[in-house]
Amino acid sequence: MQTSYVRKEGDMLKLPTDRPVRVGIVGGGQLARMMVLDAARLGLDLTVLAAERDEGSRGVIAVRDGDPNDPQDLQDLADSTDALTLDHELVPLEYWRAIESQGRVLHPGAETLQYTNKIVQRTAFAQAGLPVPPFSVVHTAKEIDGFASEHGWPLILKSPLGGYDGHGIMQVRSMDEANVMLEAAAGQPLLAEPHLPLRDEIAVLVCTSASGERVVYDPVRTIQENGMCAAVHVGEGVLDPAVASEASKIAQRTADLVGSVGILAVEFFVTKDGLTINEIAPRPHNSGHHTIDSCQTSQFENHLRAVVGWPLGSPAMTCKAAAMVNVIGTQAGDPTTRVGRALTTQAKVHVYDKTWRPGRKLGHVTAVANDIDTAEARAERAAQLLMYG
Ligand SMILES: Nc1ncnc2c1ncn2[C@@H]1O[C@H](COP(=O)(O)OP(=O)(O)O)[C@@H](O)[C@H]1O
Ligand SMILES: [Mg+2]
Repeated sequence: MQTSYVRKEGDMLKLPTDRPVRVGIVGGGQLARMMVLDAARLGLDLTVLAAERDEGSRGVIAVRDGDPNDPQDLQDLADSTDALTLDHELVPLEYWRAIESQGRVLHPGAETLQYTNKIVQRTAFAQAGLPVPPFSVVHTAKEIDGFASEHGWPLILKSPLGGYDGHGIMQVRSMDEANVMLEAAAGQPLLAEPHLPLRDEIAVLVCTSASGERVVYDPVRTIQENGMCAAVHVGEGVLDPAVASEASKIAQRTADLVGSVGILAVEFFVTKDGLTINEIAPRPHNSGHHTIDSCQTSQFENHLRAVVGWPLGSPAMTCKAAAMVNVIGTQAGDPTTRVGRALTTQAKVHVYDKTWRPGRKLGHVTAVANDIDTAEARAERAAQLLMYG
């Protein structure tokens, strides 16, 4: 946990003095839901813009129906609020830029949002000397073949935009399999990477306020299954302190490079050669859900404080270890019907009010303890009860 100050000039929101500060959130999933819960306590006046009927924020706020991909809906949201932020980064960059050019307060801003394109991001990070895995931007079968002859099969091919939870990335073992992805890309470039032998995956959340203040959460271990985050471990004994400290430093350099305000999540790969940056997300992140129950200030509260330029809260842990496990939809049906049983485990249960569907993230649980093994056992048990009964 660290705190520092990186003065950002001319970027302060002029806070209204005669009414609550109004913040617009683009997208209404579970990240918006968890921001709403904290915002209510802080007296922020939130408006959530969402298209889908069953997104997670509907249970806690009267959502404004609209399309985050529609320029007029975005403009209306900007016109009726003091600052805008995101639940997801799939909003078209040109619309975001157009609104920002009117002098509106947007965090992340367009400069930061452009890096959510995985090709832009990887290329810029490599140029800036940040550690990244070997990669190539490929358009043709010949280029993929060339990359494979250098690095060997299998390769990972990634769409530059719109990916999440492993959607938009594909492991390919041959040119035949690569051609499927190439055809789907319809002429758009792809990011090619070797399939790396990962020892570990780490994530670091950096929160930078519009006022320039910055806090950094303790680095966490993320455990991925099928390209989706399954669990997060944090606290004493979880990570090698030297690796954690290096990840924290690189994450802060990354936040500086992309001009981040609000939470920036930096995902790392750990291989035998050390740390490389996998990707970033300029918003609250699944790797930080544990902060609600294990830290003095949650990532959602600090993100909102940062967006409106309020002082940040301490990211220090209030326990020695914490484990978070995602609750994914299974054939056993809606996990909310099993919350009572899961509460016997001492884990904190968070359900998102989303329609049950197999494979969909429907909630998470966090357990805290004096050691990570106990926290992990409690959280795993709670998640199993919710997912399978
Ligand atoms: N080059 C790679 N080598 C090995 N595993 C990878 C590679 N790229 C991605 N993965 C695995 O897939 C997960 C999701 O990939 P990522 O690029 O983060 O996509 P998403 O945008 O869906 O999160 C990673 O967390 C990692 O577990
Ligand atoms: Mg990822």
